Amino acid sequence: MTDSYAVVGNPIGHSKSPAIHAAFAEQTGQDLSYDATLFELENFAGQANAFFNAGGKGLNVTVPFKLDAWQLADVLSNRAKRAGSVNTLMQGKDDKIYGDNTDGVGLVRDILENHCGSIADKRVLVLGAGGAVRGVLAIILAEKPKSLVIANRTVSKAQTLADEFADLGRVSACSFEALASQKFDLVINGTAASLQGDLPPLPDGILAADSWCYDMMYGAQETVFNTWARQQGAGKTMDGLGMLVEQAAESFFMWRHVKPDTAPVIAKLRAQLS
Ligand code: ATR
Repeated sequence: MTDSYAVVGNPIGHSKSPAIHAAFAEQTGQDLSYDATLFELENFAGQANAFFNAGGKGLNVTVPFKLDAWQLADVLSNRAKRAGSVNTLMQGKDDKIYGDNTDGVGLVRDILENHCGSIADKRVLVLGAGGAVRGVLAIILAEKPKSLVIANRTVSKAQTLADEFADLGRVSACSFEALASQKFDLVINGTAASLQGDLPPLPDGILAADSWCYDMMYGAQETVFNTWARQQGAGKTMDGLGMLVEQAAESFFMWRHVKPDTAPVIAKLRAQLS
């Protein structure tokens, strides 16, 4: 019987995950189906359990259910525990539901492998302190940056995250204004501001020479943050399309124990965007 997978969210119509996983399956010769399924906002657990009870093998979970998925999982990976959210669920052979979070690996792999960059020993700035940022902090810190500053509109939320991850490296928190006079080698935008085409109020001059900037969002046009970065003299700007495909590849690996080649899939999606 063909193994069945799905991405669930609300809304879900825009999801690129079915196309990504179909490409992975074709490339690796895996026999599976992967659908996009709209879950009602109420009762995530009931709907997810119904999927698994009907023989479903794995789910990708997106907005707004990543916390519900975290609560549903019987067993959490260490990185999911740290992230406080789950984007990948799997039915184990022991009938337990396993929860993982592949977003951080997706981001870091995109920077390190696809863009041949590095995080080790870099002064890293992360913008935002919501769920998207919490999901990637542990994996960024595992690369041993020189320092990591979390800047957020609501500074207390950045401070809470800095305290929570302090055991993993040199992490501090501040406001956007307090960034003035500091310099960073890598700036990662994880605010939801880009969704509305907004830019956090960043001071001029915070990019070091040849600084790299990464927007976790992506779109057909350059993001507002990446336009800002280019105007500030960034050595390189990157958007989140590669992260999207890499996090999917890590989910695929968790489910199928096969690593797909992400480069052609990223290139295909990029071509379809424009
Ligand atoms: P997500 O799951 O996308 O991280 P979230 O948990 O609601 O969503 O977090 C949104 C993040 O984007 C927060 O850091 C938020 O700042 P606040 O904590 O101060 O609310 C940030 N954000 C959203 N809109 C923003 C804007 N227009 N300017 C700056 N930051 C913004």
